Amino acid sequence: MKKIIVTIFLFLFIIMTISLRVEAQNSDLQLMSRLDLENSLGKKEVSKLLDLLPQDLNLDEPELILINKENPVSTEIDFEGVYSDQGLLYNALASPSFNEWMQAAVNDGFYFSIVSAYRSMESQANNRLARYHSYLSEGLDPDTAQMYVDMFYAPADASEHLSGLALDLLGSDWTSQGGELMASYGQMPSAQWLAQTAPEFGFILRYPEGKEEITGYNYEPWHFRYVGNKHASFISRHNLTLEEYLSLIVLKHKD
Ligand code: DAL
Ligand code: ZN
Repeated sequence: MKKIIVTIFLFLFIIMTISLRVEAQNSDLQLMSRLDLENSLGKKEVSKLLDLLPQDLNLDEPELILINKENPVSTEIDFEGVYSDQGLLYNALASPSFNEWMQAAVNDGFYFSIVSAYRSMESQANNRLARYHSYLSEGLDPDTAQMYVDMFYAPADASEHLSGLALDLLGSDWTSQGGELMASYGQMPSAQWLAQTAPEFGFILRYPEGKEEITGYNYEPWHFRYVGNKHASFISRHNLTLEEYLSLIVLKHKD
């Protein structure tokens, strides 16, 4: 009898420790409430996903870092960096999978260039400013120019490029015809190949069409974020954004 009671206490202690730990890790994160999730995914889907989510998800994994308008960083992020073949710095965590992905691309007849990888706060601020001025020179008024900048460029302290885990990719089918970072790239075969194959290599299309209100950004068919295979397959299989996925995990541990 004593043994049984001790086992039950031990079990309860472990469960409590796990949920406290998850709450502590996320106490500072601004995530979606259950109501927000139900509005975006539907009540039934939220219940289904909560059942499907594995219990043992660890939000401390560096691959799961969330950086968005609601969750800016206070300082530059420390990470082990590697250089791509084209000399762009990105996060070493993503490197083996990224190399495999690009090898798979070549095998399927696609060639990609990294347009942007790690960006410091300073370069993000400069990009925003340059884009703002180019909109002004195209004749937009200052408010509209700023609105467009905010739709495509994160604030200097809120871009996930700061983590080195985000890569902007364009296929040669697009760049060879002068194509740039535009939503219409999404119709090109290389963009569709990227979106389809990304999860297999641990990446997600971070700003999908139709989820703009959740991500805070327009559809970006070029921006891929490394989260690792396990998370990428769940996220893509259920058409989630990183915001929704992390909110579901926290909700699961609260229930
Ligand atoms: N284009 C994405 C939102 C960024 O600037 O990080
Ligand atoms: Zn990007």
